[in-house]
Amino acid sequence: MAHQQRPAPSTTNDTAWKSGLRPPPKDFRPQTEDVTATKGMDFEDMFLRRDLLMGIFEAGFEKPSPIQEEAIPIALTKRDVLARAKNGTGKTAAFVIPSLQQVDITKNKIQALLLVPTRELALQTSQVCKTLGKHMGVQVMVTTGGTTLKDDIMRLGEVVHVLVGTPGRILDLAGKNVADLSECPVFVMDEADKLLSPEFTPVMEQLLAYLPKERQVMLFSATFPMIVKDFKGKHMRNPYEINLMEELTLRGVTQYYAYLEEKQKVHCLNTLFSKLQINQSIIFCNSTNRVELLAKKVTELGYSCFYSHAKMLQSHRNRVFHDFRHGAFRNLVCSDLLTRGIDIQAVNVVINFDFPKNAETYLHRIGRSGRFGHLGIAINLVTYEDRFNLYRVEQELGTEIMPIPSVIDRGLYVAPGATDEPQQKTQQQQSQQRNGAPAYGQAQAQQQNGRQAQQQAQGQAQRR
Ligand SMILES: Nc1ncnc2c1ncn2[C@@H]1O[C@H](COP(=O)(O)OP(=O)(O)OP(=O)(O)O)[C@@H](O)[C@H]1O
Ligand SMILES: [Mg+2]
Repeated sequence: MAHQQRPAPSTTNDTAWKSGLRPPPKDFRPQTEDVTATKGMDFEDMFLRRDLLMGIFEAGFEKPSPIQEEAIPIALTKRDVLARAKNGTGKTAAFVIPSLQQVDITKNKIQALLLVPTRELALQTSQVCKTLGKHMGVQVMVTTGGTTLKDDIMRLGEVVHVLVGTPGRILDLAGKNVADLSECPVFVMDEADKLLSPEFTPVMEQLLAYLPKERQVMLFSATFPMIVKDFKGKHMRNPYEINLMEELTLRGVTQYYAYLEEKQKVHCLNTLFSKLQINQSIIFCNSTNRVELLAKKVTELGYSCFYSHAKMLQSHRNRVFHDFRHGAFRNLVCSDLLTRGIDIQAVNVVINFDFPKNAETYLHRIGRSGRFGHLGIAINLVTYEDRFNLYRVEQELGTEIMPIPSVIDRGLYVAPGATDEPQQKTQQQQSQQRNGAPAYGQAQAQQQNGRQAQQQAQGQAQRR
């Protein structure tokens, strides 16, 4: 039986517990209705344990977002949930909060299994669990491929309440009887449609067999193609369905395309770098090979840049992800590895150097900017070969991708108070360019640049 420590709702005067909390500095950037159009519920109205509420407020969450308002109260009744909401609107906390609420800290068992499709997303999600559960004493473990199995086996010898990870590794651990899921009542699939693609579905089904019959299954994503129907019929019991996507794209993200030839792309990117006010940017390519080639070109142009893709060593991937998140460099070139779920609030520009092949990928990619209702732009470099794809994506998403104007209004993607200068090449970068330094391994040279990016993100921009 879960630990029931229920504080009175927000109508009581008992607020002393709040005064000792240390939330991050308030974010005053404007936000769109994608996150502000709520019914006005408070986290304190949700009958959550006080130590969990403390973690929520200390994370700087003042009010629930629309998806949190809809999903958390239902999830707390232990009903199955199938929820669809736009990118960056807080789906993670919408499943992490009810999962944590149901954990009995005194019990030495895995009580929530949170599955995600990529290793980076697993790290990010486990961090959210730790942040929100900070005052609960909850033990969260993250496990993914690309790390030593033995370390995971050792860790599972200690207490684990919440297990976050990618399906293959967890199945491995469950199959070896190392991860005991027999009393795990909560099973969450984030980016559920991806986890139900043919490469993952058999693993998901095998994993479910390790859980008790009485369990709660929750599926979250911004995209739910037909693929999910099968799973729903087979493994969910009368799920409560939430769909907060009357329109699909984010209100805060303006989309443009530049029509050009393949050989003009690098030049175009250079122009964008010199004109745009990039806080941090993610640049997507359609293959790992092209990621590396482009990162090299961007470095040669003299801009701060790293890259990441699935064929890299996991330790390098982690390093790049960590450094970018902490603003150590400004531009990240990557493959679709980082298309889903990745949350870096300082990203205000997404560039599709290569136009994606389908509408879902497009939606998730451009959703890397404009996080939590903030502003951002997405720029698509489109060639003759992409013209039908561009049209199809617009049709399928019911959105408009406009031709890029000669000047982009900074009010569309730059928070008020940020510097009005575009990113500049530093002397270090220029000398690296002469020395032909590779794209990977630039972190120290770019620290200055990155710190600035972070400050801008928090609305404390300084002029260079
Ligand atoms: N109630 C809240 N108040 C303030 N910020 C919040 C709140 N809920 C979530 N956030 C912040 O919003 C950002 C986006 O949240 P999250 O990553 O959960 O979005 P998502 O819906 O899962 O997006 P995606 O579809 O891209 O995975 C995060 O930085 C998170 O900390
Ligand atoms: Mg997410």
